[in-house]
Amino acid sequence: MNIGIIGAGKVGTALGCVLKRKGFAVTAVASRRQASLDRARPYIGEESIYTLDNGRVFASADVVAVTTQDREIHKVADQISAQGIALEGKVVFHTSGAHASCELSPLDKKGALLGSFHPLQTFPDIEAGIAVLPETYIFIEGDGAALPALRTLASAVGREWKLLARESKVLYHLSAVFVCNLLCALLYSGEGIMKRIGIDIEPFYPIIRATLRNIEAKGPLSSLTGPVVRGDAGTIEAHLTAMQGMERAREVYRSLSRVALEMAEERGEVGAEQLAALKALLGED
Ligand SMILES: NC(=O)c1ccc[n+]([C@@H]2O[C@H](COP(=O)([O-])OP(=O)(O)OC[C@H]3O[C@@H](n4cnc5c(N)ncnc54)[C@H](OP(=O)(O)O)[C@@H]3O)[C@@H](O)[C@H]2O)c1
Repeated sequence: MNIGIIGAGKVGTALGCVLKRKGFAVTAVASRRQASLDRARPYIGEESIYTLDNGRVFASADVVAVTTQDREIHKVADQISAQGIALEGKVVFHTSGAHASCELSPLDKKGALLGSFHPLQTFPDIEAGIAVLPETYIFIEGDGAALPALRTLASAVGREWKLLARESKVLYHLSAVFVCNLLCALLYSGEGIMKRIGIDIEPFYPIIRATLRNIEAKGPLSSLTGPVVRGDAGTIEAHLTAMQGMERAREVYRSLSRVALEMAEERGEVGAEQLAALKALLGED
């Protein structure tokens, strides 16, 4: 399988590097800027062609990864389509979590087999991406005929592949935003409260890590502790009072505590009277 890469950024370069190490031929790499190609070269190797012409990648590759920013994927597909390059039987995939393979749709009219290949991971830079890829689950989706190539690549670079239906892609991405991006936003909100009393987040890392370990071992439902599952209305009332003038934090607290209340109901550990008191405090949806 000869592989081409369009977009020499963090994901494209890390993917190219790991594929190369696994013995795949990465025949060509394209990007907009020479500086990005020069940065990718030490990772992907001298044997590859480095070019500013995206169309050139298709001459040597059977499988092409479009690893540009999400907003550029469709533009690249339009551009390649307009160039009249022979695409019959070539597999073309992108690595966006938010979009399905149809983001590349101008290319299927030219005979390409489309896919999406999303490493469920955060890549702050190339080195970090290379380090975490082997433990990363890869979610794939696309034309039936593209899937064997996607499965082969995902098995080679990642921990395991998982198949998604095209129509599930948005909810899949939303799940990742909840557990990764919004977790950061939640911790940032907590940090804002700490700052009010002159402490920082560092002493909280052990409890954050322990919570994540519990979640990994038992799942979120069984790992929940705190005033809601204890049915402790007095503490919740004190928290809400303390958040006067902290409207954003109060909003987050009430929303997530209502979720916690649903979890408490599901666990069946809080009595009906206590549940009613908590609902009155936290408000109905
Ligand atoms: N970063 C993550 O944590 C992560 C994780 C999983 C999936 N993804 C997905 O992977 C994809 C790439 O993300 P990234 O973080 O690697 O982005 P990135 O570091 O910004 O890299 C994107 C690269 O694409 C190149 N590019 C943009 N438009 C182009 C075009 N028209 N033709 C050729 N090359 C073009 C840019 O090249 P120049 O520098 O040459 O301008 C840039 O280096 C996105 O779809 C993203 O959603 C990202």
